[in-house]
Amino acid sequence: MIETTTNTTETPGLCENKQGIIDQIIAENLGRPGAMMVVLNETQSKVGYISAPMQVYIAKKLRVPVGAVHGVVTFYSFFTTEPRGQHTMKFCMGTACYVGGVPQLMEKAKQLTGTEIGKTTPDGKLTMEICRCVGACSQAPVVTVDDEVIGRIKPNKFPAIIKKILEG
Ligand code: FES
Repeated sequence: MIETTTNTTETPGLCENKQGIIDQIIAENLGRPGAMMVVLNETQSKVGYISAPMQVYIAKKLRVPVGAVHGVVTFYSFFTTEPRGQHTMKFCMGTACYVGGVPQLMEKAKQLTGTEIGKTTPDGKLTMEICRCVGACSQAPVVTVDDEVIGRIKPNKFPAIIKKILEG
């Protein structure tokens, strides 16, 4: 997605619309304890991602180092630096799922979508990511699709799951 740049001297790459949303979030939370985390959570929820220019802008407005904002955004898998697709599939890389066959499911997903893990299909339908244990180890191998946990995935049933998302 190409963003319209409106404030090239301070925040190149941050469009007016997104800046307005972020300004409002900051205004509602400035000075509160843990404001940075709240602002980042709200930005992820309302804008859909937190790009590098957004991180710089938020850091400046909150008067915190850019490195602190970047550190949080890159540490928690909830945050993304690019827009996610319509659906998000997460591959559990906890021990039970890793041993239970998730790496093979990831390979299959890459073949079926022509898209790397961590990226979104060109049609914007599906983003694929890895995640930590989601607490359903007894159902390994597990993937999540949006808020749904899908366990005990048989390799021969997996293509149908992908197909349903891509054609849905
Ligand atoms: S290891 Fe995958 S759900 Fe726990």
